Amino acid sequence: AEQVPAAAPLAFKVNSKNVQYTDSHIIADYVYENATVTKGVDGSYSVNPTSVKYTFKTDAKVPRVGLMMVGWGGNNGSTLTASIIANRHKTTWTTKEGVQEPNYFGSVVQASTLKLGVDAKGNDVYIPFSDILPMVHPNDLVLGGWDISAFNLADAMSRAQVLDYDLQRQVKAEMATLKPLPSVYYPDFIAANQSDRADNVIPGTDKHAHVEQIRADIRNFKASNHLDKVIVIWTANTERFSSILSGVNDTADNLLKAVKESHEEVSPSTVFAIASILENTPFINGSPQNTFVPGCVELAERHNVYIGGDDFKSGQTKVKSVIVDFLVNAGIKPIAISSYNHLGNNDGKNLSAPQQFRSKEISKSNVVDDMVAANNILYKEGEHPDHLVVIKYIPAVKDSKRALDEYVSEIFMGGRNTISMYNTCEDSLLASPLILDLVILTELMTRIEFKTEAMSEFAPFNSVLSILSYMLKAPMVPHGTQVVNALSKQRYAMENIFRACVGLPPQNDMLLEAKTQ
Ligand code: NAI
Repeated sequence: AEQVPAAAPLAFKVNSKNVQYTDSHIIADYVYENATVTKGVDGSYSVNPTSVKYTFKTDAKVPRVGLMMVGWGGNNGSTLTASIIANRHKTTWTTKEGVQEPNYFGSVVQASTLKLGVDAKGNDVYIPFSDILPMVHPNDLVLGGWDISAFNLADAMSRAQVLDYDLQRQVKAEMATLKPLPSVYYPDFIAANQSDRADNVIPGTDKHAHVEQIRADIRNFKASNHLDKVIVIWTANTERFSSILSGVNDTADNLLKAVKESHEEVSPSTVFAIASILENTPFINGSPQNTFVPGCVELAERHNVYIGGDDFKSGQTKVKSVIVDFLVNAGIKPIAISSYNHLGNNDGKNLSAPQQFRSKEISKSNVVDDMVAANNILYKEGEHPDHLVVIKYIPAVKDSKRALDEYVSEIFMGGRNTISMYNTCEDSLLASPLILDLVILTELMTRIEFKTEAMSEFAPFNSVLSILSYMLKAPMVPHGTQVVNALSKQRYAMENIFRACVGLPPQNDMLLEAKTQ
C-alpha cells in the first residue's frame, strides 16, 4: 500500500481535440470505420460503410508487476530469468567472437519500432514500440513460479544448456537463490519420460486442494513482493489434450464441480488457469494443449479476467504465417506444405510421446486456414493445401532446433514453384522474448477500457485476448469470431489498437504526400 507508482513520463503527446491527458489517464475519442457487405440475389455485393465512435481510456500509471511462470525451471523459464538478470545488471560476457552485451532482441515490445508519423520533410518518424503507451519494462518484472523439478534456477540454467558459460557463471549466484514452488503433477498429462524430473510436487490427488494451493501461492507472491498485479504464464511441458465432456468441463459451474470431484480430465494447466482466474490474475497458455476448455473460458468471462493462448509462435509457424500470406496474396497457390522439425531439448523429449506430439501437431496445422479461405480464386470452397507436420527428438542437437520446410505451389499455366527452407536456432532464445511481449501487453490491456456511444460505463475488452495473436501459434479468439493467422495482419491489429488509444488513425502506407507532390 505504501507504493503508489508515479505516472511515467510520456514519450510523446498528441495535439488533438480528440485526446485528453489527465494526471492519471490518456483518454482518446476514436472513430472505428469498417464496412458491412451483403450479397444480393443476383450475386452482386452491396457495401455499407460503418463508423462507430469509441472512447479509449488508458491508465497511464505503470504498476509493479510480478510474472509467475509455470515450468520456471525449464529451458524458457531459466533462459528468460537469466537474461532479465543480465539486462538488469548490464552484465557483459565474452564469447569466442568477443564481448556480448545483453539485449531484448526478439521482443516486439522491446526491440521493434513503429511509425508515429512523418516529419516536416515527409520522412517517417519511428519510436520504440514500448513508447506507444506506458508499459512495464522487463527489468522491473518480479519473477517467480512453479516447477515439478526442484532444481534451483542456476542448476536449471545449466541443465538447459542454452546460454554461454561466461554468462551463466556471472548470473549463477543470483540464480541459485531462486527456487520454483512445488507444482501440480498428474503424470497422465505429460510424457512418461518426464517422471524422473518430478521431485517437487504438491502432495495428494485432491484437485480442489491443488487449486486452493496455487491461489495461495499467487496471493503470497503478490503480498511478499508488494505487487500491484501478477500475470501467470504456462511455459511448462506440453500436455495431452483433455477430452471435452458434457457435465465435466463444458460450463464454468461443471468445471468447478469437476475440480471438487477431482475428475481425471482436469489437467494441471487447467488447474492453474482456474486458480489464476479466481485470483483475478490473467493467465496465458504458451503450450498447445486445450487448457482453456469451454468451462474455463466461461469462468474467465464471468470474472472478467484476461486469458490468452495457445502455444508460443516462435519459428516455423511464424515463418509459415508470413510465406503463405505472401504466396496467396501474390496470386500463387500453395498446394503442399511439408514441415519437419528435430530438436534435442526436454521439450523435444516430451513431444516424442504420441499424445503430446498430437497436441503440437494440431496447434501447428491450422495456421494457413484463414489465408486459404480468403482467396476463392485459388481455392474452391473446402479446398486445402496438403499440410504435414513431423517432429522428431534427437538429443545431440540440444536446444538448437532445426526446422525444414518445403512449399510447393501452383503458378501460371500449371507450372510449379518449390521453395525449401532450413532454419536453425536456439529455440528458447526465440521463445523467451515472446513471454515478455505476452506479459507486458497483457498487463497493458488490464489498464485499457473502452466505451461506445451505446454504453454508459467504460468496460474492459473481451476476456479472450486475441490481440496477442502475433505471439501465438493457435490464437484463441472470442467465441464466434474469426481467427487471423497472417502475421502482418496480427501486427497491424496490435499497432492500430494502441494507436487508437492515443487518438491516432490506423497505420497506412499510402504515402500520398509523396505520391501527389
Ligand atoms: P522444458 O521442457 O525445458 O521446460 C518445461 C518445464 O516445465 C520443465 O522444467 C518441467 O519440469 C516443467 N513442468 C512440467 N509439468 C509441470 C507442471 N505441471 N507444473 C510445473 N512445471 C512443470 O520446455 P521449454 O523448452 O521451456 O518449453 C516450454 C513449453 O513451451 C513447451 O510446452 C513447449 O512446447 C512450449 N513452446 C516452446 C517453444 C520454444 O521455442 N522453446 C515454442 C513454442 C512452444
